[in-house]
Amino acid sequence: PGGDGGDGDTTGYPEQNITIVVPFSAGGPTDTVTRMIADPMAEALGGKIVVQNVEGAGGTVAAGQVAQAEPDGYTVLMHHIGMSTAPALYKDLGYQPLEDFATVGLVTEVPMTVVARPDLPPATLADLTAYVKANQDKVTLANAGRGAASHLCGLLFQSAAGVKLQEVPYQGTGPALTDLVGGQVDFMCDQTTNTSGQITAGKIKAYAVTTPERVKSLPDVPTTTEAGMPQLQVSVWHGLYVPAGTPPEIVQKLSGALQKALADQAVIDQMAELGTAPVTAADATPETHRAHLEEQIETWGKVIADAGVQAS
Ligand code: MLT
Repeated sequence: PGGDGGDGDTTGYPEQNITIVVPFSAGGPTDTVTRMIADPMAEALGGKIVVQNVEGAGGTVAAGQVAQAEPDGYTVLMHHIGMSTAPALYKDLGYQPLEDFATVGLVTEVPMTVVARPDLPPATLADLTAYVKANQDKVTLANAGRGAASHLCGLLFQSAAGVKLQEVPYQGTGPALTDLVGGQVDFMCDQTTNTSGQITAGKIKAYAVTTPERVKSLPDVPTTTEAGMPQLQVSVWHGLYVPAGTPPEIVQKLSGALQKALADQAVIDQMAELGTAPVTAADATPETHRAHLEEQIETWGKVIADAGVQAS
């Protein structure tokens, strides 16, 4: 029988469970997107996929771990825009995104929202900007650690508003959102895949979405451009990775399964409800994903340097 037990024959793949490592907390936005595609991908592969949350340091702990994993197709990383910002934010990252991973395919691109605890006084994004300027010493900004999407969006907000706020890092925006609803932190930037439910339920305030167009599932929330902060533009692209050296046939199998999962109507519907959509089949390929990663590392490296943020 075909096998891939080190003899180079990959025809039998997968012959054991595949683990997709999520670099943030369970229940948060990255986890949500991963769990949406895990079952349809497993079905397309004819195997089983287990989702594992490896939290820490804005997603860099998990990425470092997967970079070191056996390149056999059984350890896959789901990561987002943070794969492209971390090189500019960390002096000793411990892995190189372009050298240590093979790209499998892009998954989705998620708008962010600027959201606050329900009783934070400002009513609009302009009010929020004035409020944080006047209360710089006491306002708290939650994020999922240096390298998280919420961290990047928070940097852009602070740069646009001309403030330096006290940041409260969590292991993911799942727990950060719980604290926001509970009033323990003041505000944050987070993906619609996490915030939509609480916005719609009126449990948090939403000031703006960070995309050029409004989000269909949140029709009343203005864009940052409409709300007077056009500099704050960020959408959180996600992609799947395997360790460099993984056999190309396995990468292709994973990419094919990803494309099937993204064409699944249930996945499309779930994503739409949370303000996003799958990428096209052409974007769920190793080549497009790699080109995007290269471009994003350059883009965000410049933006982060221009914002005066030093790697540490
Ligand atoms: C998460 O899954 O918790 C998020 O993607 C965190 C973030 O990047 O802001």
